Amino acid sequence: MKTTEVTLWVNGDRHHIDVEPRDSLADTLRDDLALTGTNLACEHGVCGSCTVLVDGRAVRSCLLLTVQCAGRSIRTVEGLADDGGLHPLQAAFAAEHGLQCGFCTPGFLMLFAGALEEDPMLDHDERRLEETLASNLCRCTGYVNIRRAVLRAARELRGEATPGE
Ligand code: FES
Ligand code: FES
Repeated sequence: MKTTEVTLWVNGDRHHIDVEPRDSLADTLRDDLALTGTNLACEHGVCGSCTVLVDGRAVRSCLLLTVQCAGRSIRTVEGLADDGGLHPLQAAFAAEHGLQCGFCTPGFLMLFAGALEEDPMLDHDERRLEETLASNLCRCTGYVNIRRAVLRAARELRGEATPGE
């Protein structure tokens, strides 16, 4: 099939790659750029495992064509922490045991990275917090510890202490 050259900015790096018009962003990230932290499960927009940030907004990368992302800024879980350590969300998921098998975790991390950058007080809006949690699927944890991790990360990002620590 005929390919098209696109330029993508991924985690701050510029990539010129040839893609087919039908290639999804998820496939391009995983297969062409070897960024396999973005997981694929349902491949039709239901589970959120493939969530990445495009121009700062959380998107399901299985539903987006790579050609639609030309020139746009993409952030994957590999680019979440910028100093070689853990992003506060990653540290909070570890501290609160917010993962079991871990398959859904990159998607949840990127979902809440985008949500908390857009609204640092998200954890104070119960309805939006629940809606955001419900938008991705986890088959293991029961969501309680994921929720606790998000609350901890939100406080950490605002420079607030975690109660009891
Ligand atoms: S793999 Fe994209 S939403 Fe499930
Ligand atoms: S930790 Fe296993 S699917 Fe979420």
